[in-house]
Amino acid sequence: MSSSADLPRLKVRFGTGWNTCNYHCEYCVTDQPIGDNAATPEALPVLSRLRSAAMEPSRVIRKVASVASRLPVLKQETETIGWDEAKYLRVIDQFATLPYSMDVRIGVGGETFINKTVVEGARRLSNHDNTRAVNLISNLSFSFKQYERIFQGFDLSRLALVCSFHPTEIKDIDRWVETAIEVNQVVDLAIVLVAWPPLMPALADYKRRLEDCGLEVFVQAFHGWYEGQKYPESYSQDDRKRLANVFYSEHDYEHMVDLKQPGSCYAGVDYVYVDINGDVWRCGTYKVPQGNLLNGFRLLSEPAPCPGNECWCDTENLNTVEFRNRYEMTSLNQHKYKKRASVSQV
Ligand SMILES: C[S@@+](CC[C@H](N)C(=O)[O-])C[C@H]1O[C@@H](n2cnc3c(N)ncnc32)[C@H](O)[C@@H]1O
Ligand code: SF4
Repeated sequence: MSSSADLPRLKVRFGTGWNTCNYHCEYCVTDQPIGDNAATPEALPVLSRLRSAAMEPSRVIRKVASVASRLPVLKQETETIGWDEAKYLRVIDQFATLPYSMDVRIGVGGETFINKTVVEGARRLSNHDNTRAVNLISNLSFSFKQYERIFQGFDLSRLALVCSFHPTEIKDIDRWVETAIEVNQVVDLAIVLVAWPPLMPALADYKRRLEDCGLEVFVQAFHGWYEGQKYPESYSQDDRKRLANVFYSEHDYEHMVDLKQPGSCYAGVDYVYVDINGDVWRCGTYKVPQGNLLNGFRLLSEPAPCPGNECWCDTENLNTVEFRNRYEMTSLNQHKYKKRASVSQV
């Protein structure tokens, strides 16, 4: 196998189907209703479930009600593209055989570091000859000593982490920040804050505090339902002003808050979404099939229009032609980039 530098790049978001978490964030996107608006058939019953669950006194009961009520909806999906250790490692190993310089984000709906197999796959991937970057996502709920043990055997020069700051779940915020500072010394780290309505008033202060410690921070708009309102559409004008001040980039704001139509996109060209069965899709937001990792897949020769109206996934919306013309990546981390000095045609 050639070294990674000689090969054309291929960026992948690998949807593992691992959805178990050690945190129980009330706003977690994994437990948000399926459906775009209150008029879609799937959204209405879930909205009413959320409303009745919200009457319960305990946050845990609300969470359990929300998860349990979604099980019939998820059942079919779980059987076909749900988490499976053997399939996961098969896809990881298959990445090593591809004639590309691989930049893989291992996507989870739960927590990465509570699953030894997810971690072992990431470790293997970081050591493949053709790997350029491995991007992981985590709630950073372990101690630095535990991370030191977990990171053993990784090629840390290829590892990047996006860690979510979930203040409703973190027991000791000072210690969490200390851990983030320590992890940032050994791994390319970015922190993400979710602009859930109850967290809005504290958002700017949290961001400043983390940045003052030398951490790179970006804000993700809340996507889901809160008090019967769908977000991000229901942010008030005041909320929008506050968000515009704390967002990482105009790009993030336009796509995550304003739900801008993405236009032409490199998804399917040098970026694909891969599921646990190895099926290859143009992206994970709108599933256009491109083959299978084990049996062969094809790539598009040039960017094509986004088939949908919005793309708020922070991994995927970086593939728009407009993003690539306006911004350039500054590290292996999927969420570190800066404006180009002049707008270029990539
Ligand atoms: C579901 S989490 C799973 C990974 C990991 N456990 C974590 O907390 O980062 C994946 C990403 O979604 C973000 N997220 C969670 N709930 C969200 C929501 N309702 N709207 C937007 N982003 C959300 C998290 O901050 C994280 O960046
Ligand atoms: S803009 Fe986003 S949703 Fe649209 S094709 Fe590209 S990656 Fe997919």
